Amino acid sequence: MRLAAALLFPALAFAADRVQLPAGPGRGTVETVCSSCHGLQIVTARKLDKNEWQSVVETMMERGASLSKSDAAAVVTYLSRNFGKKEPGRELVEDVCTYCHSLAKLAGQELTQEEWRDLIKGMIFEGAPVTDDEFQLIVEYLAKHYGIKDQQKP
Ligand code: HEC
Ligand code: HEC
Repeated sequence: MRLAAALLFPALAFAADRVQLPAGPGRGTVETVCSSCHGLQIVTARKLDKNEWQSVVETMMERGASLSKSDAAAVVTYLSRNFGKKEPGRELVEDVCTYCHSLAKLAGQELTQEEWRDLIKGMIFEGAPVTDDEFQLIVEYLAKHYGIKDQQKP
């Protein structure tokens, strides 16, 4: 028992200390540059839009973060993509639509609003717990991000 605890607790402390960043261009720069003065938790705890990340990064550069112009742009894009303000529809989709299957089902879907309506009605029939208000937000979110591409619209 004592042995198990000794093995377990350092591992937990280590896990809590270490911030695992999502993959994507700009990650390496954030990992190296943004962790040199403070932990990355200070970064990943934020939810900011692109302009707000822009001004944070500029402030950090004034404080001494050394970034080229193109690195700074990549960092701003990376942070706003991964630590941006979430749309309410996205939170619902991440929450409700993952009860029964992964969001991988969404990949490659290109549906109109009407088609999303019908599909989500099917999910509700399967048992997805969605209120009327949530239904509308989910449809709008999916039609925007998994809709038919502009050039294919009539
Ligand atoms: C040269 C040192 C340095 C580097 C490099 C650096 N920072 Fe900071 N950062 C600071 C200091 C100093 C603070 C204020 C300390 C505090 O609030 O604990 C801070 C605070 C922050 C905060 C909190 C701001 C707030 O309003 O509370 C965020 C977010 C942040 N940094 C993001 C970043 C990002 C993103 C990068 C990489 C582009 C970065 N930092 C790189 C020095 C740095
Ligand atoms: C109660 C369980 C459940 C929930 C919650 C659920 N689904 Fe499903 N979903 C299913 C089942 C079962 C299938 C497979 C049956 C099928 O393909 O028709 C499926 C299939 C899918 C497919 C693939 C359809 C196709 O034609 O390939 C998509 C896309 C999908 N779900 C999206 C969603 C979305 C978006 C949500 C959130 C609104 C959601 N699902 C929530 C049960 C669920």
